[in-house]
Amino acid sequence: MTDLLRRYSDSLAASARDGLLRRLPDTDTLPDLLDFSGNDYLGLARRPELVDAAAKAGHRFGAGATGSRLLSGNTRLHMELEARIAQDKGTEAALVFSSGYQANAAAIAALLDKAALGAEPLVFADRLNHASMHLGCTLAGARQTRYRHLDLAHLLEQLEKYAGDPRPKFILSETVFGMDGDQADVAQLQSLALRYGALLYLDEAHATGVFGPNGFGLAETIELAPSTVVMGTFSKALGVGGGYVACSSLVRDFLINRAGGFIFSTAPSPLVLGAALCAWDLLPSLWAERAGLLARAEKLRASLRAMGLDTGTSTTQIVPVILGDPLRTMAARDALAEQGIRVSAVRPPTVPQGSSRLRLGLSAAHTDADLERLVHSLVQSLGEALRSL
Ligand SMILES: Cc1ncc(COP(=O)(O)O)c(C=O)c1O
Repeated sequence: MTDLLRRYSDSLAASARDGLLRRLPDTDTLPDLLDFSGNDYLGLARRPELVDAAAKAGHRFGAGATGSRLLSGNTRLHMELEARIAQDKGTEAALVFSSGYQANAAAIAALLDKAALGAEPLVFADRLNHASMHLGCTLAGARQTRYRHLDLAHLLEQLEKYAGDPRPKFILSETVFGMDGDQADVAQLQSLALRYGALLYLDEAHATGVFGPNGFGLAETIELAPSTVVMGTFSKALGVGGGYVACSSLVRDFLINRAGGFIFSTAPSPLVLGAALCAWDLLPSLWAERAGLLARAEKLRASLRAMGLDTGTSTTQIVPVILGDPLRTMAARDALAEQGIRVSAVRPPTVPQGSSRLRLGLSAAHTDADLERLVHSLVQSLGEALRSL
């Protein structure tokens, strides 16, 4: 091994020592496996209609888009999906991206661009925002002022502190937080943003499909201001892949002209967008699935809390079981796997130090019996995990 390659090997060895080494799991679906590790919250990923819609879109528009949107890749399907998203989100316009990660990185980096703003932006961000939102800030060279998770009094304090500062202000938050399963108060966030003249950027990755009267996200419950930008994904409850930004026509034009991750990337595949549009169309009809999903999540939290487990501040389909120690968390995950139950073990740096957890992602496809089996197996696995350390 060369000296240079040894540095990578040493770095991985250090992660392994701390119980933080990541390995790819084998996620082929076994017949008897009960899966709580995914984000397929409505059970759409394997719905035949979506697969058929992908094939139909492929036959009509091609398997690939052949180029970026600004060159050869701007099909009618891209435009149609964007028009639907804008209409259902209550914005003037929308723009699709190949992934949610790319949407955040590209859109946030462009919106925070110092050259366009003529000044350094002041960015107020929830402490637990997703890595792709941080990446957008980093790409723009913008320093973030982090407020305590969901603590709008703390955000207000910081906004007040900078009230007289003429620099352009931004507030960034997820609406449903992916690792904690709790919710931001979107109405309050927008009212604070408007009061302090800030642009509000909301990430609805885990809310799209699950919340809102028609399933279009938590932001569906408020009238969006032109200065509010809402990002979301097709990769979680919609069961497909890709991301979108719903915004004013002005912001869309700006992103088309300034967002590197949009300009210099091949347009999302028609296969993916065909399936995404089919899933989007289904959302309003899936109200019973949403209600059942959230009711089952509530029941699961009650059972876990009764066992003395820490489910944090979860109020959604994402239920963490916070164990603290990464090795104990991995051992619990492995013990569950041996019983045919797959859950995710999430460790730093994805979550803060000391808050390693099992992450349970519920789906409308789970039954009450599935949840009973999960709770029963958790009792055993946590005991085994403790004994094995
Ligand atoms: C809050 C949040 N935003 C964005 C993303 C990125 O979305 P995608 O998986 O579609 O790239 C994720 C995915 O984990 C997420 O949890």
